[in-house]
Parts: sequence; C-alpha cells; structure tokens
Amino acid sequence: MDKLIIKGRRRLNGKVAVSGAKNAALPAMAAAILTSEDIRLNKVPHLADVTTMVALFEKMGIMTAGYTGIPATQASGKSITINTSRMNTYEAPYDLVRTMRASVLVLGPLVARYGRARVSLPGGCAIGSRPVDLHIKGLEALGAHVTIEHGYINVAAQKLTGAKIAFDTTTVTGTENVMMAATLARGTTVIENAAKEPEITSLAEQLVNMGARIRGAGTDIVEIQGVDQLHGCSVDIIPDRIEAGTYIIAAAAAGGEVEVTNCNPSHLDALLFKMNEVGVECTETGNSVLVRRKGDAWLKSAGMKTLPYPNFPTDLQAQFMVLMTQGDDTSVITETIFENRFMHVAELRRMGADIKVENNVAIVRGKTRLMGAPIMATDLRASASLVIAGLIADNVTEISRIYHLDRGYEGMEEKLSKIGAQIERVKV
Ligand code: UD1
Repeated sequence: MDKLIIKGRRRLNGKVAVSGAKNAALPAMAAAILTSEDIRLNKVPHLADVTTMVALFEKMGIMTAGYTGIPATQASGKSITINTSRMNTYEAPYDLVRTMRASVLVLGPLVARYGRARVSLPGGCAIGSRPVDLHIKGLEALGAHVTIEHGYINVAAQKLTGAKIAFDTTTVTGTENVMMAATLARGTTVIENAAKEPEITSLAEQLVNMGARIRGAGTDIVEIQGVDQLHGCSVDIIPDRIEAGTYIIAAAAAGGEVEVTNCNPSHLDALLFKMNEVGVECTETGNSVLVRRKGDAWLKSAGMKTLPYPNFPTDLQAQFMVLMTQGDDTSVITETIFENRFMHVAELRRMGADIKVENNVAIVRGKTRLMGAPIMATDLRASASLVIAGLIADNVTEISRIYHLDRGYEGMEEKLSKIGAQIERVKV
C-alpha cells in the first residue's frame, strides 16, 4: 500500500493543469451502452475509478480500446474507444460495484437498450448510506419492473415509456441514470428537480451527439423525447472542477502564486466567491484561475454550507475546512448532502486542528499552526484535504491509505511537486 510523505510549509508557485473530470468520464462511459457503434471519449483521466469501469466493461464483454495501465502522467488525456457490440451479460457484479458506487450508472442504459439489467446494490460507503432508491423509482416510473434479490437490483422492461418524474432529493447519478434510460423510451420524459451539475450538461451534450433529443439539461427540469436508436460519437471529457477547486484551495492555503490551467472557471463560481470572501485573490481568464496569496497574514474566516450545484460542492468541503484552520476567527461549516462526511476531522485534530462537530455542523477555530503527523486517508475528498493539511503543516506528514486519492486525482503528487511542494509517494 502506498503512502505519501509531505514536508510542509513550502509556498507553491507555477502552473498546474487540471485533468478530465472523473464524474463526467464515468457517465460518459456508461452512455456507450446505449449504442452498438463506437463511442470515443477524449481527455479521459487516468484514475482508479476509470480503471474499475473498464474492468466492469471487460467483464461484460464490452470492448475498450486505448486505456492501459501506464502511469498517470503519461496517460493523461488519453482517448478511450468503447464498443458494446459483443456485450454478453447484463450484470454488474458485487465485487466491482462495491468498490465504486458509480458503476450503478450502467443500470439505466442497460434497461433502455436491452430491457433488462442485474446490478449489485452498492451498499453503504464511508461517507454515508447513499441509497439508490431514487434511481429505482425513476426507472419504475418509466415502466420498468424492479425487484431486489440477494443484494442485486433486477430490472426488466418490455419497452420503457416516457413519464414525469419528480425527484424528492436532487441526485446527480440518479438524474444521469434516468436521463440515459429515457433517451430510448417511447414518448416524452420530464425530470423535475433534476440535478444541475456541469456533468449532467456534458452527459446531455454527449447523448444529443449520439442522436438523443434532450432539452433543459443544466436546469432543474430536463425533458427527453425518446428516439428509436442512438449512434456513435466522439466527445471531450470536461475539466474536473473538483480537482481544479482542490488546487485552488491548496494554493490559497500554502501561499504563493499558482495558475490553475485547463479548467472552466464558470463551474467554480461558488468556490471563487468564497475565496474572495476569505481574502484570497483569484483572477479568472478563459480557462484558468490565477490564485495569489502573499504574506503571512491569516485569512478571513467564513462560514460555508454545502448544497447541490451551483452552490458550494460537498466534494470541496473537506479541503475548505483545512483552509479555515488558517482563518482569523471561527468558521461554521455545514454539510447538507452526506451524513457522515467529517471523517477527516479526527485526522486533522491529530495535526493540531481545533474542530468541533455537532451533527452536520463543524466549528473550525482559525489561527492554527498545523503540525505534521502520521495520518490516514478515509475517503476520496478527505484524502485531498489531508494532503493540503500536510502542505501547510510543520515538519513531515505521512498519509497512509492513499488508494482513496488515486480514485479521483490524476498524478496529484507529480502535479504538486511541479509547483514546489515536497511530496513523495513511497511503497510500504
Ligand atoms: C455524485 C458525485 C459525488 C458527489 C455527489 C454530490 C458522481 C459519480 N459522484 O454522487 O462525487 O459527492 O454527487 O454532489 O457523479 N440520494 C438518495 N437516494 C438516491 C440517490 C441519492 O437518498 O437514490 C441522496 C444521497 O444519499 C445524498 C443525496 O441524495 O444524500 C445526493 O446524492 P447524489 O447526488 O445521488 O450523489 P451521487 O450521484 O452518488
């Protein structure tokens, strides 16, 4: 198992390029199941989660060309071509779905194209129970017959029929699953209270490129008019706004001048607004953000609440919490999306942070000089926050269980090293 060793208190300077978005690449891959023609995806990030999706596809007899186990730095931005014409099973087994919840994204496309699917229930995960009841309700509304047996979701449908679906809670992958299923349904589907994340919009654009008829993606009402079949296409995966946000926060925390390139600043409005509030200068250009923090003064403390897009993303909550240890006062951080997403707090406390948690609220005391310590990554975004903590802490921080980080950050230590961090991966 690899570890990261970070020698902290180095300022960051230079350029860091953002990779393609994990949360856009996974649904883009799943959408390939909707056609027998080639789907070419460009700028695919080299990540453990993408490798898991490729492994799932291989198990299903789906051909994926172009994705190999070469190191992240060399693989960056590679293309994958997916072809499902020799697919031989409609099943996504437990051993793969349990390692990556997003495998559930194959459910909608399988039912739409083949009228059947057997996908393992993802079960709980470290950050909360994360049910898939809304995915199931959405498919049932389209006429699918769903049963849960032996830990598997079994779905059968003669032909899906368009319907109106109003989600009780905004769900990103739930919206994606239903949107994909509806592309091949008979008639019109309307999704109300749809998620508005940029990854929804990019998936809709891909589906439209494949011949689907979709309106309103990116708003809370998405309308899909079913078509008989979809065809191949070639699309670019959008830049990862969470990776971009992580480097923006890292630069703000460590100080210096960092240009975060190849990103879409308009996807980062809520974060950039917060950066302004806490006193970090961020200048946007077309596809980059220049982050400047000079001097040693504490930042301004600010409260923050996670909410669905376009509000502050839950996937940047842990990173922002570390930043607020460098505030001049107390910050109140409220997590409203996942019930158990403060696992980084215990690790940050081991580094000297003063953070109290009451239910879904964390109270972070500022003016804290963090101290290096051996710590443990608990989930993907928590791991990123621990790296940022290591960058600003005295002495050496050793982070174990970094396989979590590899699920969603392409070549993080190489990228951070290039801008002046002292960070090294060691095998233990
Ligand atoms: C996606 C992202 C993840 C991000 C999350 C919230 C991907 C692959 N992952 O996850 O990085 O943290 O959005 O922005 O895109 N819920 C239900 N029933 C359901 C589905 C969801 O109750 O059937 C609840 C969840 O428990 C959670 C909330 O809805 O409280 C939002 O979850 P959701 O948007 O579905 O998250 P994911 O799509 O799994």
